[in-house]
Amino acid sequence: MSDFTGDVLAWGVPRLRDLPWRHTRDPWAVLVSEVMLQQTQVARVIPRWHSFLERFPTPAACAAAPLGDVLREWQGLGYPRRARNLHATAQQVTELGGFPRDLPGLLALPGIGAYTARAVMAFAFELDAAVVDTNIARVYARVAGERLAPRQVQSIADEHCPSGDAWAWNQCLMDLGAVLCRPRDPGCDECPVRGRCDWGGDATRPDPAVGSSGVSTKQARFDGSDRQARGRLMKALNDGPVAVADVAQVMQRDTDTATRLLQDLVADGLVDLHATTVALPA
Ligand code: ADE
Repeated sequence: MSDFTGDVLAWGVPRLRDLPWRHTRDPWAVLVSEVMLQQTQVARVIPRWHSFLERFPTPAACAAAPLGDVLREWQGLGYPRRARNLHATAQQVTELGGFPRDLPGLLALPGIGAYTARAVMAFAFELDAAVVDTNIARVYARVAGERLAPRQVQSIADEHCPSGDAWAWNQCLMDLGAVLCRPRDPGCDECPVRGRCDWGGDATRPDPAVGSSGVSTKQARFDGSDRQARGRLMKALNDGPVAVADVAQVMQRDTDTATRLLQDLVADGLVDLHATTVALPA
């Protein structure tokens, strides 16, 4: 184990944030948490994670439900394609008789990419896999003192991941990124690896995390966005079908825009188009 790894673990283990998905090793529950956390803050995810798993406690329960029910349960979390992919993954996992435990098997599931596959390996199966989310990518770019290319981040992460301790390691590193190595105002004074960090919060140097691979940029403005308009329709559909003629009004957009956005939702399989109405998929 490198000193970097040892120092992060020594700092993180006693301080690990008490988050509900850290108390389970059920791959379904872990997957649901990771998918929700992809675009939604921890505090907003917690109650929704509990209610989702109450409604769909297993992949089989989710697979057996119509997609519309899963989308209804997802309402307000945004990015409904995540829910559609989760539903499709639940169906495949049910057919397979369980979750794959290896990277290629997990990557083959709908909507599961490099990050999520490794998160399931490390957080559910406690297998050696180094996850790179935005927090972790920021830590590594700053420690390296330079913007990193996509391959570099994953290979640096792989090098540091201690064998047999991937669960704790990835959770600690995420917390370091979320709690101290924040996007702005990093808490370098309290950082256990300040002495090993090339950047060290030096205000006279540009932040190496900005523009580095895997580090997310600010979310696009929501007000006036296509995402807002699509979300309005999805929300309305929760209560039942909407007349095609009313879609523009529900979206609060002009007819051309509404038509284009409706076509996107149909193409994504998120709504069904009937003769004169639009509905959540059966
Ligand atoms: N964000 C994504 N995965 C997380 C986890 N396991 N704990 C805290 N924040 C996260």
